[in-house]
Amino acid sequence: MKPILICDDVYIISVNDRRKHLFENMWPLPYGVAYNCYMIDDEKTALLDTVELGSTNNFMSYIDNILKGRQLDYLIINHMEPDHSGEIQNIITKYPNVKIAGNRQTFKILQSYFNYTENLIEVTDGYELNLGRHNLKFVTTPMVHWPESMMTYDTENQILFSQDAFGSFGTLDGKIFDDEADFCESEMRRYYSNIVGKHSPMVQKAFDKLQNFKIKIICPVHGIVWRKNPAEVLEYYRKWSNYESKAGVLILFASMYGNTEQIADHIARKIVENDVKNVRVYDVSKTHVSYLMSEAWQYGTIVLGSCSYNGEMHPMMEIFCREMEHYKLKNRNLALFGTGSWSGGGLRNLQKFAENIGWEQIAEPVEIKGMPDNNKLAEFDIFAKSISDYCKK
Ligand code: FEO
Repeated sequence: MKPILICDDVYIISVNDRRKHLFENMWPLPYGVAYNCYMIDDEKTALLDTVELGSTNNFMSYIDNILKGRQLDYLIINHMEPDHSGEIQNIITKYPNVKIAGNRQTFKILQSYFNYTENLIEVTDGYELNLGRHNLKFVTTPMVHWPESMMTYDTENQILFSQDAFGSFGTLDGKIFDDEADFCESEMRRYYSNIVGKHSPMVQKAFDKLQNFKIKIICPVHGIVWRKNPAEVLEYYRKWSNYESKAGVLILFASMYGNTEQIADHIARKIVENDVKNVRVYDVSKTHVSYLMSEAWQYGTIVLGSCSYNGEMHPMMEIFCREMEHYKLKNRNLALFGTGSWSGGGLRNLQKFAENIGWEQIAEPVEIKGMPDNNKLAEFDIFAKSISDYCKK
């Protein structure tokens, strides 16, 4: 495979994975995913991370084509999750003298995965490794999104090798750089909300550490390389990790026989009639929670409606609520409604969620029994007005 140059002796090795259906066996991959790693071919040679084992048959030939018979001097491990550490065993086997740079947490995981404890260079914040023309500086970024996560900064070329941060779902399809690709904000936001979002406070800490770094190029381990406008992706991460939202209403409903859905549509119409136009409605049983989380990460107001199911909310709504509690998304407004045929439970349990997550409720909750006729739907007119009035403030 022909190496792809990023700049002066720095190469990307990128593998497009179009076979995997679910990232981490959970998050849908309709457009696949790319695993990137990087090589610096200097007086000393360095490989920064690897790719998922089995994602390509010829990972070692990519390396050979760059090294052309030279030895690999350093393997730098920014992240140990197996989608990036999968080829480490093959690297160690082929280059038994390779020195491995990582932090204390890296080496604990390295030992637990590969039982490997030799040739280690333990780095901490600010540690520098000189390769000749390139000088690498390490920045630990714990819990973005694993404990050993770190970034490597090339002080010569002002390149940030950022591991998972600033990455995205989606294969590259020949478009390696931001000036070649049609950037898909929604797939990057979905990646952020699903993979990194839980650790947003740690992303903020990483920003603090990076604030004095001049960054010309960002090289993540998924998605495109940012060389034209790295400030764009930094701004997305700043906004998402601060839980900033846009005006608009996200309505999520769980409905067994269409009654709760009818109410959701009625509420949506009334909100639009009240001059709030940015409204999206999703059926939580149809749309995977991965997308719902991503939408929650951008809308400021979230309306949840559930039928009752065994005295609880519908299990598919429960999945969304549980993920939100785990991910601790903040600064959202909330409105709740429910339906039931006898003793209810949908709204009652949504209210428990509201207490747990602490989002401000901006409308009096409404629950109806049975099917929504015109009289019952009218109860939601005030509900919808409260939501739209709040949105217009
Ligand atoms: Fe792409 Fe956390 O691995």
